[in-house]
Amino acid sequence: MPPTARVTRLFLSLPLICAAAISVAAAQAPAPDLSLLPAGPGRDLVGAKCGTCHTLAIVVGQRRDRAAWEQSIDQMIGRGAEISDAEYEAIAAYLGTNFAP
Ligand code: HEC
Repeated sequence: MPPTARVTRLFLSLPLICAAAISVAAAQAPAPDLSLLPAGPGRDLVGAKCGTCHTLAIVVGQRRDRAAWEQSIDQMIGRGAEISDAEYEAIAAYLGTNFAP
């Protein structure tokens, strides 16, 4: 390939690369929609810990008892969520109270 053709190809592919980078960044860091969460102890924590990998809509669309929520939190930890023991308690209590069956 002549050098000019190579430069042209690089130039043409730049917008595509940029668009891909922007859409990946947007997909990974959706701003959590805290308005989905009812007021109560643990609300901010759930917003911070459960709205980063996916939208909070995935969480608030479920109805589970506390034991089932604990299983969900365990699964999320398995997927990489970083949650301390104290945070685990607060999140399980909040979800078990506000998103019970
Ligand atoms: C490290 C990333 C990550 C974090 C943080 C995270 N999740 Fe998830 N979550 C996922 C992935 C990935 C899926 C999709 C898995 C699938 O398709 O089943 C998912 C799916 C879900 C689902 C739907 C699937 C199901 O189990 O019914 C629920 C509910 C859920 N997450 C709740 C939570 C809650 C509650 C928190 C906060 C404690 C949380 N997530 C934090 C990665 C995460």
